[in-house]
Amino acid sequence: EQIPLEMHKVRIVQKLELPTVERRFEAITEAGNNTFLLKNRDIFLDMLTDSGVNAMSDRQQAAMLIADDSYAGSETFIRLESKLREIFGMKFFLPTHQGRACENIISQVLVKPGSIVPMNYHFTTTKSHINLNGGRVEEIINDTGLEIKSNNPFKGNMDIDKLENLIKKHGSDKIAFVRMEAGTNLIGGQPFSLENLSEVRKICDKYGILLVLDASLLSDNLYFIKTREEKFKSMSIREITRKLASLCDVIYFSGRKLGCARGGGICTKNEDVFIKMRELVPLYEGFLTYGGMSVREMEALTIGLEETMDENIINQGPQFISFMVNELDKKGVPVVTPAGGLGCHINAMEFVDHIPQQEYPAGALAVALYIASGVRGMERGTLSEQRNPDGSEVFSNMELLRLAMPRRVFTLSQVKYAVDRILWLYENRKLIEGLKFIDEPKILRFFFGRLEPV
Ligand code: F0G
Repeated sequence: EQIPLEMHKVRIVQKLELPTVERRFEAITEAGNNTFLLKNRDIFLDMLTDSGVNAMSDRQQAAMLIADDSYAGSETFIRLESKLREIFGMKFFLPTHQGRACENIISQVLVKPGSIVPMNYHFTTTKSHINLNGGRVEEIINDTGLEIKSNNPFKGNMDIDKLENLIKKHGSDKIAFVRMEAGTNLIGGQPFSLENLSEVRKICDKYGILLVLDASLLSDNLYFIKTREEKFKSMSIREITRKLASLCDVIYFSGRKLGCARGGGICTKNEDVFIKMRELVPLYEGFLTYGGMSVREMEALTIGLEETMDENIINQGPQFISFMVNELDKKGVPVVTPAGGLGCHINAMEFVDHIPQQEYPAGALAVALYIASGVRGMERGTLSEQRNPDGSEVFSNMELLRLAMPRRVFTLSQVKYAVDRILWLYENRKLIEGLKFIDEPKILRFFFGRLEPV
């Protein structure tokens, strides 16, 4: 058994409660059978997301004390900007309040009605912003990317032939930009290889198209390049980062994930794009030297970005996830393999194969696991999609229950508890019932829609 070793010690703890099963049933009913609407006080292990819930280091906390408060021109901002220039080697930086704010700005500037944005795979907020500006997403992930079980170490790779065919079919003028997502979220936190990104770059060069990287889950992707890509094994994380960034025109990120802090930002080496995007920052985010972030968040982010260059820091999440995935896989629970970053992903389509897709199997599984354990996960399937204009469902390629692993937050015994409860639920899976909406928002319905058992 491979035991993941914590390369840190715990110096501050927060008490948890484990509510009774009766209370858990009551709580999830009050929450409209949507785990987003649960309250923390009713949750034992919160595996909803790795966003804004990662443990900060002592150095991050310490840096928050030296923050330099001001509306314009603070030293704090200068430190953040220089750190980003150092690690990505890009000249320009625009701060935002979080990742989706970057997507708003990038989409407003680059997406026009009729635009197409090819990407390895979509993320919920990304797709919504592109659609809002009249564009459309084309997912051109490689074929194994959507297989639940695979030996492909880089399931996040883009299919290069499909990319080129798509550009030829529509003409490069129609393509707003090509987007690559690091640690591809919705297919199970799966990485792309540096080799694949280089191939994508070549196509972008050939047709004069911008390459935009969503680096929100970059730390996991860096770890996987370092440990799985033979060709780059001798490069340091810092060198891999520089190489990767040199292939992109724009890099944006959620600081809630990358850098274990808050906020976000857009880096670019393209001055023209920078100038267009800059206009929108004071309009939606705040002045150019804070962009909606507090100075404390920016200081923590600066240190967090530097810590991302340390292999013994970024390896913690992937190793815990790999432990959890392997324990479940060994016992026959259907999980996405190989283990990726972000969290452990359970294949609901197989776990609850008696629940049809229109009854949201992954949403139903999230509810059942919460009742069975007090562990909160997130539906990543049809519930997280948006209906077609005619009201019909968009059935997701995958129905996943995501159990995110906030970085450095849970102990191994807590992970083992989650595994134990999932095994119990798997044995009793026929008890689980499908769901239907009783209150369904039009956009990003998974955030606050309410459901009941069918
Ligand atoms: N891009 C990716 C790949 C993400 O995973 C997220 C957020 C965003 C963009 C948006 O960033 O939340 O700071 O606005 N993912 C979170 C999650 C919400 O739980 O997977 P944000």
